[in-house]
Order: sequence, then structure tokens, then C-alpha cells
Amino acid sequence: MGDIATKIGERTAPFEMAPSILSADFARLGEEIAAVEKGGATVLHVDVMDGKFVPNITIGLPVVKSLRKCTRVKIDTHLMIEEPGRYAAEFVKAGADMVSVHIEADPHIHRTLASIKSEGALAGVVINPATPISALDEVLNYADFVLVMSVNPGFGGQKFIPPVLEKLRRLKEIVRERGLDTLLEIDGGVDQQNIAEIVSAGADIVVAGSAVFGKGDPAAAVKELLDGGSDWV
Ligand code: DX5
Ligand code: ZN
Repeated sequence: MGDIATKIGERTAPFEMAPSILSADFARLGEEIAAVEKGGATVLHVDVMDGKFVPNITIGLPVVKSLRKCTRVKIDTHLMIEEPGRYAAEFVKAGADMVSVHIEADPHIHRTLASIKSEGALAGVVINPATPISALDEVLNYADFVLVMSVNPGFGGQKFIPPVLEKLRRLKEIVRERGLDTLLEIDGGVDQQNIAEIVSAGADIVVAGSAVFGKGDPAAAVKELLDGGSDWV
């Protein structure tokens, strides 16, 4: 995953900015993506929802295939679907570089993670705000990254749930104690005001939807987030 390094405590915290296209104008998706790339985004976060695991329906495989043709940044597919094991590898074949699945949705998550890795992508586990870190005990060592939800998944534009910051700090500590290089990603309610605190809590990849799109200038918004997140010490 490139050169990201967050050594909180010893003051090194480059991080990757991952705009979520959920809040983009889908009729102008190519332009929106070009703009966030120009602003310095290195990951594109794609929210896949099935109307069952979460109460919303968004996009799927054909869109990921088209995105792959129009961008060179990493495509990060966040699967908010039931039975993610049936589809996870398909998203890699469609062009995703990262695929994450909710631990709440998958009773066979080791198998799903293995299927993602065997197709050559990074495999991630997602935990909802109410899911404790202990739910990751047996699976952490098999994940390339953990996506920590800071809102309840389903919609963009929700408010960041503050206790998640402490959860992120504790998880960072556990990753360090275990000697792992698991990346931590945060998703939901991130904006130019709270990003510094989020990066300082240990986020390596930061997702933002409504703080990037719909404000007129996505390139400037990404740049501002990158600047804000670097201002954490
Ligand atoms: C929520 C999605 C998020 C969402 C973030 O279910 O997983 O990726 O797009 O949007 P904001 O940044 O507006 O909270
Ligand atoms: Zn997401």
C-alpha cells in the first residue's frame, strides 16, 4: 500500500485520502474523479450497498469496471452487502485494489479474505460503530486493513460518532502489540475540522464523501483535508 506510515507518538503520519464517490454527481463521475486526483487523492472509495445489509442501494460491478478504465488511483470497494463471500473476488476481477467486507455480515470471513487476496487485492474487515474491537480478535492477523466505521453505514452526510476515536487508538495499539502492519481506515463524518484528530488517532486511510463532493470544488476540498490531516501534531 505505497508508502503510508503512521507512527503516532513518534510523529510521522502521512496518510491516504480516499474520497467516497457516493456523494459525487454520478452523471459527471469521470470529471469528479479527475478533480479529486488533482487535489491529491490516492484512493477512490466505492460504496457498494444492497438494500439488505444496509437500507440503501448504490452501485455494483459494472461501475467498478468502468472506473478502472478512467483512473489509476487505487479502487477501494466497501461491500455493505449480505453474503459478501459470494461477490468479493468478483470485485477484484472488476478492477478493485482493495475490498472490504463487514464482519457483521460474514460468518466465513477468513475464507472471504483469502478469496480477495488470491485474486491479488488487499483484503479488509469492516466494523460498525457498535461492534467491539474484540470481534476482530481471531481475524485481525488475516486482514491487510481494518475499516473502522464512524457512522452507521448506509448514507453519506452523517455525523461522526466521537467514541470511535478512542476505538481507533486502541486498535492501533493492538496492531502494534501484535507486530502487524495492518492499515487502519476510517469512514463516515470526516471533514476539514475533525481530520487532524482522526489522523492523530491512527488512521492511515481517510474516507470522506460529503466533505469532498457537492461543495463546488472537489480538488480544493481534498487538498484542504490533506493539509488539515497533516496538521495533527
Ligand atoms: C456510509 C459510507 C461512506 C460514506 C461517507 O455508509 O460507507 O463511505 O460515503 O460519507 P460522508 O463522508 O459524507 O460521511
Ligand atoms: Zn464507505
